[in-house]
Amino acid sequence: MSNISNELELTPFIRGKIKLYQSKDGYRFNLDPVLLSSFVKINKKKAKIVDLGTGSGIILLLLSLKYPELDFYAVEIQNSLFEIAKKNFRLNNLNVKIFNEDMKNIRRLFKPNSFDYVVSNPPYFKVDKSLSSNEEEKIAKFEVKINLKEIFKVVKYLLKDRGKFFLVYPSFRFTECLKVATENKLELKKVRFVYADANSNSTHFLAEFVKSTKEGLIIDKPLIIYENRKNKIYTEEVKYILEKFTDGEIDGN
Ligand SMILES: C[S@@+](CC[C@H](N)C(=O)[O-])C[C@H]1O[C@@H](n2cnc3c(N)ncnc32)[C@H](O)[C@@H]1O
Repeated sequence: MSNISNELELTPFIRGKIKLYQSKDGYRFNLDPVLLSSFVKINKKKAKIVDLGTGSGIILLLLSLKYPELDFYAVEIQNSLFEIAKKNFRLNNLNVKIFNEDMKNIRRLFKPNSFDYVVSNPPYFKVDKSLSSNEEEKIAKFEVKINLKEIFKVVKYLLKDRGKFFLVYPSFRFTECLKVATENKLELKKVRFVYADANSNSTHFLAEFVKSTKEGLIIDKPLIIYENRKNKIYTEEVKYILEKFTDGEIDGN
């Protein structure tokens, strides 16, 4: 039984370039999908992309600012979030083919090897951790309905050879993720580790995997979130992403 009120809140984002509804007391997005969308690099103009577990639709809304000509698809298991994402895509005039479905049933929705790009901010934690009480959050944050191995199987099924998978994931599961990726013919080609500040261990990583390609990895520069964590002052790079949202490359390299 869901214990959320279904009350929605409208949030303008990236200086009003996008507007989106979020549930007041259900699952709400944080900085992770924003950093992931900024990390995504797409080099084909007209290509098919799918967001697995789209939530409020934030990732595709952000990507549409950089890559308006993509053919957008989204999958979301939770009806409450599916309805919010649909509303958000309509509100921002973004044409997205969205499916209210468990991504484990991906074969019902799409043909194999049919996507150029897959993007996802999936549930991070195994179910043996203390689960949050809110049902919507539980399914969003914990591997209740999908786990890492299952996600990679879905991605392998969807991507064309040389297609790319962009993922944000917690650093403590990095080696596990690499192993599962390799088992599914997905090669890690680029990774950027995310740090809350310059004196902490990495919390997350942003990764680009390529299907059926040879080895060769770029380890990107660190992405540091706070200049001053105590006073919640963001670094110039994160400020830039939140204000302008192009590709986060402020120093031109
Ligand atoms: C961490 S949230 C990310 C939501 C959104 N992409 C964002 O970045 O804010 C993970 C999302 O995956 C969805 N999800 C979990 N298991 C799923 C499954 N088996 N099939 C489809 N979506 C699923 C959750 O409902 C949730 O919306």
